Amino acid sequence: VLDLDGKSTNIKIQPTMYGVFFEDINQAADGGVYAELIKNRSFEFNEPLMGWSQPKTQTLSENKDSGYINIISDYQKSNRNYARITVLNDKNYELWNEGFRGIGLKKGEKYDFSFQLENVSGDISAVNAVWLDENGKEILTTSVPLKSKGWNNYEVSITPNSTVQKAKLKLTFSGVGVVNMDMISLFPQDTWKGRKKGLKKDLVQKLADLKPGFVRFPGGCLVEGRTLAERYQWKKTIGNFADREYLINKWNNGFAHRLTPDYYQSFGLGFFEYFQLAEDFGAEALPILSCGMACQFNTGELVPMGELNPYIQDALDLIEFANGSVNSTWGKKRAEMGHPKPFNLKYIGIGNEQWGPDYIKRHLAFEKAIKAKYPDIKIIATSGPSPDGEYFEYGWQELKKHKAELVDEHYYNSPDWFFKNANRYDSYDRKGPKVFAGEYAAQSVKVVSPDNKNNWLTALSEAAFMTGLERNAEVVTMTSYAPLFAHADGWQWTPDLIWFNNLESYGTPNYYVQKLYGNNAGTDLLKITENAKPVSGQSDLFASAVEDKKSKKIIIKIVNAAQENMQVKLKPKSIKLSDSAEQILLTSPDLKSENNFDKEIIKPQSSVLKLKKGDISVDIPANSFVILKFDS
Ligand code: AHR
Repeated sequence: VLDLDGKSTNIKIQPTMYGVFFEDINQAADGGVYAELIKNRSFEFNEPLMGWSQPKTQTLSENKDSGYINIISDYQKSNRNYARITVLNDKNYELWNEGFRGIGLKKGEKYDFSFQLENVSGDISAVNAVWLDENGKEILTTSVPLKSKGWNNYEVSITPNSTVQKAKLKLTFSGVGVVNMDMISLFPQDTWKGRKKGLKKDLVQKLADLKPGFVRFPGGCLVEGRTLAERYQWKKTIGNFADREYLINKWNNGFAHRLTPDYYQSFGLGFFEYFQLAEDFGAEALPILSCGMACQFNTGELVPMGELNPYIQDALDLIEFANGSVNSTWGKKRAEMGHPKPFNLKYIGIGNEQWGPDYIKRHLAFEKAIKAKYPDIKIIATSGPSPDGEYFEYGWQELKKHKAELVDEHYYNSPDWFFKNANRYDSYDRKGPKVFAGEYAAQSVKVVSPDNKNNWLTALSEAAFMTGLERNAEVVTMTSYAPLFAHADGWQWTPDLIWFNNLESYGTPNYYVQKLYGNNAGTDLLKITENAKPVSGQSDLFASAVEDKKSKKIIIKIVNAAQENMQVKLKPKSIKLSDSAEQILLTSPDLKSENNFDKEIIKPQSSVLKLKKGDISVDIPANSFVILKFDS
């Protein structure tokens, strides 16, 4: 029997309660959400021809029978390299691009194929582009006539008449001579919000469907970099796409079992686009910045305290970029990018997953400078890796002592840990810092195992744990699963919320748990108890309850983690519940079952529950997550 008290607890569910955490890991941005389909489009990788090949060119010969490519570099520029292509025999010279684990093309969709080209010498009259399927069959051809001298932009629209998941692009040339080429690019026209050269619509829609309260970006360890030189620097990610300086991705060759030496950041999805995305979702933007410490799992390189100012200045300038007037230095840049209105940034995170006294010192220096100029900006501090981490307790004590506003906790742990920790926040000090559960995911095998699965057991344990987050909304005000995306052929880390390939994507059971919470967050916490105690795992039952004052609903979330069905009787007090309720059920008879590209077998099922007057008895199936929605 669960007692539901309708009397207000006076505890609000913050609109930021369920958010998303975006990191360019597992090809989430380049090769993923960012819709560019050509890998290394401007020859900027450390090996400038990575992604490109010239199958008919014998590199050790004089190449008289074909042609060859040179890379020309100008180190003064952010877009340093371009390709000089010398065609000696146009029957034989070919330049191929492999795409991001192939190029996904959809039948009947329109794509923009574009490049920059300087016609240097000779009589090359056209660039011919051919797309080939996995069997080498030509599926689409276009020929782009060239203008005379000077650098010019070229763009044509193409429409494939078949669907191919892993196409390749072959470029040939009509005539012999020399051309310079840069920014060789292919984008679908139908992008998220129709923004030209923007983001993939279907993948972003999956995020929008979660109804996130915030978007945390751009990581993760990606923020920190393996070295300080490789840290994420937001100023290099704004402005013209062609001028955004490439950077090796921290997850390049992320783990020994997933070698991905071709992982770079083009920053086509940069800080402006992240702010825009948060705005599209009606969510708060939550940027995380380097605190002057490289990833402590790698080099742990430290900026001396005396040299921290440029890092702090980056944070101050970011706030100006987001919120400053169009007359301010950085606000002007935002306006020039097409957003004169401020983004109304409210939060900033300092450091990702840092720990120890070095972090505390740096955090305090950032805090002092930010609060002096922007007292209303809320600052998020980090408590380091999982709760078992070496410095977790130390970090918390220090941050509490210094009255930090919000502390970011990360935990990747077993399903069992998640079930057992549904009461984790029951004992947290209500007067201390608020909690941002910024990264969490149940691991079916162990942390960083390539065998981890997004199975029903992991999702069920997260649903149970999240009843505990919700019950403790007084202290937990922001939460996000991690990581968000993974390309089926290009990942470094599993489990992940959404899996995709070059054509399709699917939501994991964990995705549907997040979606159910995000779509049923409510506005006010209600008290639900069993024998006067929080329902957090006694007899495998977990529950939380909220009222949604906007839609006038009472929403009860229940997890039955037992192997048998349970009869749950609801006893409302100081509240009248309607005689029927919407029941949303997420379950699977097999704890090991998973969704996949062919079928999302674990998906919410909605039905109407008719209840007998005065008797609210609900059958909760074994191993299931159930939401009951009553009219209030
Ligand atoms: O989510 C994957 C990684 O896990 C994040 O980059 C990091 O913050 C954590 O260690």
